[in-house]
Amino acid sequence: MSISIKSPREIELMRISNRMLAEMHLELEKLIEPGLPTIALDEAAAKFIKEHEVESNFLNYDGYPASICVSVNEEVVHGIPSKEKRLQEGDIVAIDAGIIYKGYHSDAARTYGVGKISADRQKLIDETRNAFFEGIKAARAGNHVSDISNAIADYIEPFGYGIVRELVGHGVGTSLHEDPQIPNFRQKRRGAKLEAGMTLAVEPMINLGRGDVEWLDDDWTVVAADGSPSAHYENTILITDGDPEILSLI
Ligand code: MF3
Ligand code: CO
Repeated sequence: MSISIKSPREIELMRISNRMLAEMHLELEKLIEPGLPTIALDEAAAKFIKEHEVESNFLNYDGYPASICVSVNEEVVHGIPSKEKRLQEGDIVAIDAGIIYKGYHSDAARTYGVGKISADRQKLIDETRNAFFEGIKAARAGNHVSDISNAIADYIEPFGYGIVRELVGHGVGTSLHEDPQIPNFRQKRRGAKLEAGMTLAVEPMINLGRGDVEWLDDDWTVVAADGSPSAHYENTILITDGDPEILSLI
């Protein structure tokens, strides 16, 4: 396993790629409303990507058929945007997206409520986001990957939520998925040592019920096995000699 250390030039390209992705997320957020077909989010993302003369790293990834993933309620990740599926008041919707700028990948996900949502769903969204911020407090040169994993797990477990174990965070750079893997659950092994210049996608996926997941027949959509709502929050970060830099937030 080897983890790439980005040069100053590469870090600048990662910054640009991720800043653009953060802007795209803000544009997509504005569209969320009851009645919206989930394909409309994909169309808006594809338009943004085309207009900015960048590329989607999701489209055609292992045959994935869209530019973004849109995962509603019990869908954890990798929901395929659809003409038939419309957002409804009370839903929670996770949008996961990435772009490639001059060969450098960004990756980030957000979860939103549609209209008025229940307090327990809002709390799930908020604590999933908070878990990311707790996790990255440990994302410092000299720490190990497991320090991030354990910080996320320690934060989430007291709420009684289910942590998804089948999917994990990852390095990101000239590929969407690079070493190391970054689990969101407690680790026995320390894992790789973090160094300045690593760029990582940290992405807790948290279920209101149990953490077990299943795959739908489309071979993409990952759902909570118990049907409970699920939230996802992800940013690409840069390890530095001090606090990590969150590249995909503006
Ligand atoms: N963004 C996902 C991740 O965080 C990857 C999506 S792959 C796709 O790793 F094929 F669904 F696009
Ligand atoms: Co990711």
